Amino acid sequence: MSQSPFRPDVLAGKVALITGGGTGICHGIARALGQHGAKLMLMGRREEVLKEACAAFSKQGIEASFVAGDVRDFSQAEGAIKATVSHYGKLDILLNGAAGNFLCPTEKLSSNGFKTVIDIDLLGTFNMSRAAFTHLKAAGDSLILNISATLHYQGTIMQSHVMAAKAGIDALAKNLACEWGEHGIRVCTIAPGAIGDTEGMRRLAPLGADKRIAGEVPLKRLGTIEDIANAALFLASGAASYITGEILVVDGGAWLVKPAFIDKATWEKLAAKS
Ligand code: HXC
Repeated sequence: MSQSPFRPDVLAGKVALITGGGTGICHGIARALGQHGAKLMLMGRREEVLKEACAAFSKQGIEASFVAGDVRDFSQAEGAIKATVSHYGKLDILLNGAAGNFLCPTEKLSSNGFKTVIDIDLLGTFNMSRAAFTHLKAAGDSLILNISATLHYQGTIMQSHVMAAKAGIDALAKNLACEWGEHGIRVCTIAPGAIGDTEGMRRLAPLGADKRIAGEVPLKRLGTIEDIANAALFLASGAASYITGEILVVDGGAWLVKPAFIDKATWEKLAAKS
């Protein structure tokens, strides 16, 4: 990991609950929050994974605990919030990162398959945010940070369930930013692009597609978990204290690219003649 551009105590005294924090992007964000002073509560479905993650954090000097639970179930969401507050005394940052994904053409997707992803991503974000409200309000200067995506900005085949879920998260965040701003709760969203070395990429970009994607991104590389963690640190820090309802796209410019119907060399010839 390269040297952090943030002060090591930028989140000192903050308590963060991270859903999906046992693995992947959200694990990387959790580590970054912890390395910058936050105390962590990790939530996920697999207790063993969470236990290992906390043990690793502890070796790095990060204070971390865990609560096993499923964000689809409101009573388990409430349980995770209660566990956080009884362990640390408060909650400042809720990171909604738990997500499900698989490739499936819509005509083959079952109603329950569609619902499963909506329930994990969108209902889970609602459940956790709703359950956290009282404590985030009590903390003041608090943050809900959602992990969305860019795939619903255009039509992404095999992803109708995820597109719908992530679009819902984006809409919900705008609403909550308006309703809960007066209580000192900011609501922000990060939309990562293709991030290397993640379960999402292994599932969504198999067969070497990651190399092709990297070549098409304007910044000519895949994103890293550190790129997303730095965006999260910025949004969680005082530097973002007047930012709410915003979606920060961290994708190297990828979603802006349109398919080139004429190759670059031909364009250049045409431009020379005009
Ligand atoms: C079609 C599928 C399926 C698949 C599950 N289902 N996997 N349908 N193709 N590959 C259907 C099942 O048939 C079932 O419907 C329903 O979904 C529920 O499946 P279960 O296995 O019972 O559910 P569950 O155990 O809750 O787990 C589902 C899951 C899991 C959460 C989606 O597959 C999973 O954990 N996925 C990986 C999580 C992950 O990769 N997270 C990172 C996300 S990356 P029926 O009708 O049969 O009952 C990400 C980035 C997005 O989100 C943006 C990228 C650019």
